[in-house]
Amino acid sequence: MLSSNLTVGENGHLYFGGQDTVELARQYGTPLYVMDEVRIRENMRMYRRAFEENFGPGSGPLYASKANSFKRIYEIAAEEGMGADVVSGGEIYTALQAGFPLEHAYFHSNNKTDWEIAFAMDHGIGYFVVDNREELDVIQETALRKGIRQKILLRLTPGIDPHTYEAVATGKVDSKFGTAIETGQAREMAAYTLGLSGIDLRGFHCHVGSQVFGEDVYERASDIMLEFMAQCRAEFGVTLDQLDMGGGYGVRYVDSDGQVDIPAAIARVAAHMKAKCAALGMELPKISMEPGRSIVADAGLTLYTVGTVKKITGYKNYVSVDGGMTDNPRYALYGSAYTVCLATRPEDPCDLACDVVGRCCESGDIIQPGVQLPEPHRGEILAVCTTGAYNYSMASNYNRVPRPAMVMVTPEGSYLAVRRESLEDLVRNDL
Ligand code: LLP
Repeated sequence: MLSSNLTVGENGHLYFGGQDTVELARQYGTPLYVMDEVRIRENMRMYRRAFEENFGPGSGPLYASKANSFKRIYEIAAEEGMGADVVSGGEIYTALQAGFPLEHAYFHSNNKTDWEIAFAMDHGIGYFVVDNREELDVIQETALRKGIRQKILLRLTPGIDPHTYEAVATGKVDSKFGTAIETGQAREMAAYTLGLSGIDLRGFHCHVGSQVFGEDVYERASDIMLEFMAQCRAEFGVTLDQLDMGGGYGVRYVDSDGQVDIPAAIARVAAHMKAKCAALGMELPKISMEPGRSIVADAGLTLYTVGTVKKITGYKNYVSVDGGMTDNPRYALYGSAYTVCLATRPEDPCDLACDVVGRCCESGDIIQPGVQLPEPHRGEILAVCTTGAYNYSMASNYNRVPRPAMVMVTPEGSYLAVRRESLEDLVRNDL
């Protein structure tokens, strides 16, 4: 099995996080997002422990909530002592509704609107991760109006190619995010920021990309960032003590994907940074990182009911399910690989080569092409694995398809975390 939380029960059904997925589909309906609470907590603890063991006090991971944002996950993050990376007024609102302590939240985005800046500050956001000069000026004005000094990090682009897919590579000089070190603009931004009385510059942030496997990507990025911090100390006489290294490690979607030993990788990065700081004659700053995918991806699975099974003799077979690009747009957007299996009979011999497709009115609505399955019957339950990240958070109502429910499983049972959208929900805002 792809992941240790996937097992086969005595009844031959696929189990996830200790629960029978066929039973979950019967109880809650399909399409259904299922999240394994134990795995979420294990993943959060793995990062926290690695940070505690390798970096000093004040360092730690933040959950990048764009990967999957709903009230319950902010409660879990708070219980597990994780900070949060939030990217919109909507994520901030959701976190607040969950009682998440906003002083542990970092507000990202390359285009924070004026109301979002005021809203975040009104609710005591911990940090703004400032992308650009325009935004910095609005934060300064808002802070002065409120009579506070707002803590910030400046987001910089170290000019690193993380060798992931183009849509999620962000650390290159020509990125829409952040301020480039190479062009000298980062130095100018730092100098400008240090002159602003409403701003408390604490350090820097970089994010090279997502689904990162490259062995030395974080090492190379940290070299550039630490050198920049040393340069700031020499030029401006200030020691800034925070460095946020951005998103976390890549995850395994199919058997052929690599698997990162995350604690070992963090230990290597930490050793590298300590040596670099020693060479630069500086203290190791407080280090943070913002894993999203590697916290929730393997803690999630989607269940569908099989509908049409269409065989085009001599050409191709299609298995259609009751969801699709509306609940998982990642194949349509990025050509992402997924592991698909029949939840009702995961161990039966695979005798059908097919494309698993959704129910939307376009040919690009593919969940996964080239899948091998036991030939399914209408009404059987199909599972797509590793859907905990960037599925629910990217879901849409295309074709007026209601978004699925999300259920949490624990060893003891299951509970609803997000209810299924109703038909009334679909027209709620129509006038
Ligand atoms: N920090 C920043 C500033 C980010 O932009 C991201 C992801 C993260 C942290 C979290 O990275 P992770 O640990 O999840 O790799 N929709 C795409 C992924 C977009 C990632 C955007 N930024 C997908 O489905 O693959």
